[in-house]
Amino acid sequence: MKRIVVANWKLHKTVPEAKEWLETIARGIRPAILEKMGVVVCPTTILLPEMRREISKLKIELSLGAQDVSRFERGAYTGEVSAEQLQGWADCVLVGHSERRRLFGETGAVIQQKLEICLKNRLVPILCFESPDQLPVGSGHPPIVAYEPRAAIGTGQPDAPEDAQKVAHQAKEGLGAAVSVLYGGSVNSGNVGGFISQADIDGVLVGEASLDPEEFLRILEAVRRVS
Ligand code: PGA
Repeated sequence: MKRIVVANWKLHKTVPEAKEWLETIARGIRPAILEKMGVVVCPTTILLPEMRREISKLKIELSLGAQDVSRFERGAYTGEVSAEQLQGWADCVLVGHSERRRLFGETGAVIQQKLEICLKNRLVPILCFESPDQLPVGSGHPPIVAYEPRAAIGTGQPDAPEDAQKVAHQAKEGLGAAVSVLYGGSVNSGNVGGFISQADIDGVLVGEASLDPEEFLRILEAVRRVS
């Protein structure tokens, strides 16, 4: 299975900063990296169109993701961005990120609606979960899930790779071997190898360390080495 590395920029970067980041990545990314993995960048929604244009101009094989999507299709929902509006700009969407659950009160029911709306609009949802009880049961699960223990997010204190492996294994037992399981939470170029070399961890979701393009390139290189 190809590895997956996702950059989650959260509420960072302006259009010029995003372009500068892409230019550095275009200069440094080697074909050997892209043979081994899919690379996805999730900026704030407003950056997506400009980044899409820049990616095709620079001819780099990067996918784009949104950090969230409305659970509504359309209508009187001030401030929302719909799945239909994301089409053409985003390939995938982070759904149920810990910060959305904690700071914006997203419940399991809301997250379920978002998963369904993504699938209906041909956007690949990446379901983030903090513990296995947040995983869906039964059929129709998302193709990619990302285990992000709350205590590891943005703290500089990643989970132990062996503990993350146990949860990844449990996720595959529940959802089937075809699901891709990512780990996220304080991943950087120094520790990514420990996660990627676990049997059931297929990739990583990187926050803070993805903001610096040189560090992100080091992460990609480290993933390539152990893949
Ligand atoms: P972090 O964030 O790498 O800064 O810990 C990861 C995430 O929240 O997706």
